[in-house]
Amino acid sequence: VKKVLIDCDPGIDDALALALAHGSPELDVLGVTTVGGNVELAHTTDNALRLRDFLGMTAPVARGAGQPLVTEPINAPAVHGVAGLGEAQLAAARTELDPRHAVQLIIDTLGAAPGEVSLVATGPLTNIALAVRTEPRITEWAADFTIMGGSYTRGNRTPAAEFNVLADPDAAAVVFEAGWTTTMVGLDLTHQARATAEVRERFADLGRLEAELLTPCLDFYGRHRSYRELGPAIHDACAVAHLIDPSLITTVPARVDVETRGRFTTGMTVTDFDAADLNAAVATELDADRFWALLADSFRRASDG
Ligand code: BDR
Ligand code: CA
Repeated sequence: VKKVLIDCDPGIDDALALALAHGSPELDVLGVTTVGGNVELAHTTDNALRLRDFLGMTAPVARGAGQPLVTEPINAPAVHGVAGLGEAQLAAARTELDPRHAVQLIIDTLGAAPGEVSLVATGPLTNIALAVRTEPRITEWAADFTIMGGSYTRGNRTPAAEFNVLADPDAAAVVFEAGWTTTMVGLDLTHQARATAEVRERFADLGRLEAELLTPCLDFYGRHRSYRELGPAIHDACAVAHLIDPSLITTVPARVDVETRGRFTTGMTVTDFDAADLNAAVATELDADRFWALLADSFRRASDG
């Protein structure tokens, strides 16, 4: 069983990533930290708490950064809904936030078991950059580090940039330059994970998980213009799935640098597959059939308990 800490901005696909992590018998979620992103920090944090109660998770939830390091905040309410979870109306949280800042929870959790805890980030990288700057040894302590973010072909928020990287390009640059290997699960990979009608059938009999979370989230998400044709991409769950079963996703070693100030390309993850000074493992291909089977299986376990 792998121990994992998840930094996220729920967010519809973040919510599904949490359900996947919680339902997987391969993972033990040690903590959830929140960052402003898809919606503002107050909402992403409240959503993380509500999701913890709804899913029956026990991991601490800690609030992190509400603003990018340097740039102005951007959000995506048109994709995720004004409160961040589409049309889902989860009950108000009954449990409390961890009193620590997310950055402290990240440092404490990784430092308590060096080499044993995986770190996954599915939102803008502000908290991770602050944690790296505060305690650089986290780059050695993390068993591995995986992000949903970036792309080596095209962006989504702009032609060049993926949302999570664009939302805090300076943080992303710090993270990629920190000396560890970042596994980049970017749009090139996550656009292979489309929740089509056929896929949705696999989730049809999952009780309250389906009725109260999957359907109201995915119905809303799927109506966004970028997803209407091919179905909504469940980006963040791909990063968690990589941790559960690395054989689901092909990765290629590369050098990734973040464009922090471009005329048209701010937030671009410039990926060099021929570089000598590697800093990343870049996801290229998804075994979609096995990915959806994993989600259905883990969601079933999450809904049972
Ligand atoms: C990423 O941006 C957010 O909207 C999603 O939650 C995902 O993490 C996709 O670009
Ligand atoms: Ca996200």
